[in-house]
Amino acid sequence: MLTDQQISTIKATIPVLEEHGTTVTTHFYKKMFADHPELLNLFNHVNQETGNQPKALAYSLYQSAVHIEQLEAILPVVKQIAHKHRSIGVQAEHYPIVGEYLLKAMQEILDLNENDPVIEAWGAAYGIIADIFIQVEQEMYEAAAWDDFRPLKVKKKEAESEEIMSFYLGTENDEPLPSFAPGQYISIKAEIPGEKYQHIRQYSLSDAPGRGHYRISVKREKQPEGLVSNYLHDHVEVGDTLLFSAPAGDFTVQETEAPLVLLSGGVGVTPLLSMYKLVRESQPSRPVTFVQAVRNENVHGLAEEIAELKQDDHVRHITVYEEPEKADAGDFQGRLTPDALLSFLPDEEAEYYLCGPELFMQAVYDMLREAGIPAERISYEFFGPTMTLVEN
Ligand code: HEM
Repeated sequence: MLTDQQISTIKATIPVLEEHGTTVTTHFYKKMFADHPELLNLFNHVNQETGNQPKALAYSLYQSAVHIEQLEAILPVVKQIAHKHRSIGVQAEHYPIVGEYLLKAMQEILDLNENDPVIEAWGAAYGIIADIFIQVEQEMYEAAAWDDFRPLKVKKKEAESEEIMSFYLGTENDEPLPSFAPGQYISIKAEIPGEKYQHIRQYSLSDAPGRGHYRISVKREKQPEGLVSNYLHDHVEVGDTLLFSAPAGDFTVQETEAPLVLLSGGVGVTPLLSMYKLVRESQPSRPVTFVQAVRNENVHGLAEEIAELKQDDHVRHITVYEEPEKADAGDFQGRLTPDALLSFLPDEEAEYYLCGPELFMQAVYDMLREAGIPAERISYEFFGPTMTLVEN
């Protein structure tokens, strides 16, 4: 329990966190990795270089401070982060290390000594927040389809577009893999020859559940060059074995009667395709609108597969080409506009699922909100450290 004094001290740090949060967390990671380089096996180095992970951590600390009196309010966010932690293998014993370096970073950036009431209050708050994470993650470890990382074999490798390659994964002895909830992802732990560290990445499962295999559809990242995606594209072949943790994540489709609207940008199509396949099978009469925005025809991944599933009047697949090669390609050309988007959407109250690059999601989210769609009907998933779409 925090004392009233500690609560008001933490609340007093809200403006400080708003201003200096990312500086604190950037400094925190630098110090922690210098003393604990083994943790570089867990973290995505690109998210450190781009600053996205320090930003995501700073934001979650800020949210914790804002809600310090009713931490239940941040439980949905905690769960989302805890899914990621569980899929990576974060353990209870890691928490004191993070706590120690976080407090040291706060001290140094805010120029406080270790007995300062701000540091004491944050030390106590960190302990409480860490305990919540540890408990939630413990439950997730117990519920996971398997422990730790297990080897899965590449059964098939198939190009979906110039940039996207699908990998079908199965077990050595062809025993079916446990099912999963569409929208979930798996983490790969890649051991790349010549690399000092292991590299963990998350990929959404792009096929329907219950098929016995998993499929990930990986975009070759070019800017910055994706270490793991390029390794998978160029060096992993059928018959190879890779390490994966069990499916994770709570970006999953609700099987309600409401029309379903799926809005994808680029490779963000992968979790939405899995949802689409499930709903076509389990709720064949449910109206579905699938808006797929891509740069052009050459990078239009999984298009044929989606087209094959388009069988009824109540299922619409809309293609948006931002920079098409052919003049008449797709249903809409250029950046999606609010008018065009609205013309594709059903009149009834629907459930909306978004996945794609941050700018795409923010633009689409704003258009939906401006059209009067309530925030609670819009779910979204970031590839990379979770950010929150802001209400403009
Ligand atoms: C990811 C917060 C403790 C390791 C994240 C993310 C947040 C976060 C916001 C981004 C989530 C996402 O990618 O969707 C926190 C908070 C913690 C905490 C508030 C303490 C209360 C830890 C600990 C470890 C850890 C103890 C283990 C050393 C990681 C890793 C990632 C991550 C490896 C993925 C980063 C990446 O791949 O870029 N955490 N975390 N976290 N966290 Fe934590």
